[in-house]
Amino acid sequence: MELNLKEKVALVTGGSRGIGAAICRALAAEGVKVGVNYSSSEDEANDVVAGIKRDFAIDALAVKGNLEDPAAIAGIFDELEECWGKVDILINNAAYCPGGPLESYTIEVWEKTFRVNVTGCFIASREHIKRLRAGARTGKIVNIVSQAAFLGSTSGHLPYDSSKGAVVSMTRALAREVAPEGINVNAIAPGMVKTEMVAANLATKLDYYISRIPLARIAEPEDIANAAVFLASDAASYMTGTTMDLTGGMLMR
Ligand SMILES: NC(=O)c1ccc[n+]([C@@H]2O[C@H](COP(=O)([O-])OP(=O)(O)OC[C@H]3O[C@@H](n4cnc5c(N)ncnc54)[C@H](OP(=O)(O)O)[C@@H]3O)[C@@H](O)[C@H]2O)c1
Repeated sequence: MELNLKEKVALVTGGSRGIGAAICRALAAEGVKVGVNYSSSEDEANDVVAGIKRDFAIDALAVKGNLEDPAAIAGIFDELEECWGKVDILINNAAYCPGGPLESYTIEVWEKTFRVNVTGCFIASREHIKRLRAGARTGKIVNIVSQAAFLGSTSGHLPYDSSKGAVVSMTRALAREVAPEGINVNAIAPGMVKTEMVAANLATKLDYYISRIPLARIAEPEDIANAAVFLASDAASYMTGTTMDLTGGMLMR
């Protein structure tokens, strides 16, 4: 399969850990220069960059920027353009996932969840598209959502689930708007993936979570990264506005 990813440049938000770090490595393995975004995990982001340089002999850069701050998002793109002249691929991966029952969610928690997960994704996508348009270039956007957008979560993540539903809708609306310009916008809805985000759930109720999954295993971050590479590549150039379910069969539709 011809991915045509060599010499491309990607920005992965929340690339310092978990699924984002796996996506950074998987893109680099295909010859993509990667901007590894983080907000506070500087050491982890630097480790991802060092690993990419060591294992794939590809350039990578750790870029600090909190997605809650629109100016910081523009700054991330400026930094990558200064370094490599362009950004072709945007992976909207970073997310905030507070837990708890309904009564525990303050307006501040609700708004922060939407600021990071929805507004951050919107501002980054708008910035990416603005710059692609300015250079009359095509490009890709891949949004990491969640099966919780469709099924709800059984462990109490109402603001998060709601925010991911918003990003599914954003994926479709944006895909429609920019399709004539050769810009593809797709999403991936993972089920349970072995990362820090769900480590506490997996530590206490692993058997329960596995029992819900027809393929009977928790996903590795690399399972999600493989799909992200495909959607970021020219091999997926006829796909737009879709959400790819990667749930081990938990979500079948
Ligand atoms: N793990 C799962 O089971 C699962 C299931 C479905 C969907 N997902 C989705 O997959 C994506 C990655 O999840 P994960 O499990 O890999 O999460 P994770 O291990 O908790 O990592 C989250 C990443 O996002 C970054 N981040 C958080 N807030 C940020 C902000 N305001 N600005 C910039 N970066 C920020 C973190 O960096 P800092 O530490 O520097 O902030 C970190 O790199 C998320 O969209 C999540 O919703 C995960």
